[in-house]
Amino acid sequence: MKTLLTNGKLVHPDRIEPADILFSDDKIEAVGQSLAADGAEKIDCTGRLIFPGIIDPHTHFGIPIKDGRSADDFASGSRAALLGGVTTVIDFTSLERGQSLANSVASRRKLAEVALCDYSLHCNVTRLDDNILAEIPEIIDSGVSSFKVFTTYREGGLYLDYPRIEELAGVLSKYGGLLMVHAEDDGILQAAREKLDPDSTDPSLHGVSRPAAAEVRAIEKIAAIVTRTGCPAYIVHLSSAAGLAAAGQFPELILETCPQYLLLDNRRYADSDGRMYVASPPLRTPFDNLSLWQAVQNGQIATLGTDHCPFNLNDKKAHIPFAEIPNGMGGVSLLFPLLLAEFLQRSWDLSLLARLLSANAAAIFQLAPTKGCIAVGGDADLVIVDPDRSTRDWTPEQIGTIDWTPYRGMAAIFPERVYLRGRLTVDKETILAHAPGQFITAHSADQA
Ligand code: URP
Ligand code: ZN
Ligand code: ZN
Repeated sequence: MKTLLTNGKLVHPDRIEPADILFSDDKIEAVGQSLAADGAEKIDCTGRLIFPGIIDPHTHFGIPIKDGRSADDFASGSRAALLGGVTTVIDFTSLERGQSLANSVASRRKLAEVALCDYSLHCNVTRLDDNILAEIPEIIDSGVSSFKVFTTYREGGLYLDYPRIEELAGVLSKYGGLLMVHAEDDGILQAAREKLDPDSTDPSLHGVSRPAAAEVRAIEKIAAIVTRTGCPAYIVHLSSAAGLAAAGQFPELILETCPQYLLLDNRRYADSDGRMYVASPPLRTPFDNLSLWQAVQNGQIATLGTDHCPFNLNDKKAHIPFAEIPNGMGGVSLLFPLLLAEFLQRSWDLSLLARLLSANAAAIFQLAPTKGCIAVGGDADLVIVDPDRSTRDWTPEQIGTIDWTPYRGMAAIFPERVYLRGRLTVDKETILAHAPGQFITAHSADQA
């Protein structure tokens, strides 16, 4: 079955091109002017932008947090993802007590089999010993090449100290792995928390208990590790102007931020549903938002991920101590719709958006050239959108199965059609029945 998309405006990472796209089964066969294809289904894309499939490099579908789990599993989360044009998510493994890395990857892959979009994995390293280190080469060979550590969440059993992170980085640099870091220094967080009333139910104390200084300290420590080991490092969910300034001293660090650190600020904690905005790092100030927008515009930020970790209203109980509130917010279906609306409103270069939401993640996480571009031989992951269809009135389905979103009322432009490996999965902003997504391995360019 061949499909020909005619007269679209293709948003490449380096240019905008008015052109047709021909794809057959899952791969793009031709991109060019006035393509002809006998027997192909023709779709007129006049007035439409066509983006490469969006990649969300940071989701947490159904992970354990406090006494519960984040609300979306791979089935519901990936469904929401597709509605927003995300054709690939990169989620994280979870390393249980006594479990090997290989087992943690296998069990997460099993859970992900119900996903409707494509998926790849980062490997969480929340415990380090010689056995774990010895597994690294085989994990990379199996197609998982990014390894995430936490410089905090000691109470949740996720914390790794800096000497251990350095040991891991040394091994990763030898085998071509990438270190990913949740950068909030645990010592600074503990000191800040000790000054606060642990029984207070004021959600704004979540912010006070996690100052930007913790982000700065962790970034400086990681940069020193990068310098000593030569291991590439990616800082997830950068949240503050101070953290950005610290990272700016070390241009080799790869930076991700999230829509919440661009579009929301810490005044939300005073709202009646303030507890729902509790996520780590916390929301910062309008000045931090502005600094991060500037870094988005000047290319200092490489990727935008959602850190999708949603909770329903009932999952975050009202009037519980601030440190007991489960951490996380959702947004996978809104990443592209919100950012496209913002970029258009700011008259910013849409190719920059294609880099931030697709091409850069594909390159960093070794999914290119299969993903992240509109090019012959690449997967036909395509997002067709009418730039004039901005709305603030979304259907409940457009935020997934969750009953709360931090972005309500904001302008968003949802895709009209989404193709995943050549299959139409969203039509007229509605999900169609379809086959499951596939596990996409990270592969170095020579294997591509
Ligand atoms: O609050 C958050 N972000 N929860 C998800 C886990 C993490 O730290 O990324
Ligand atoms: Zn994190
Ligand atoms: Zn996260």
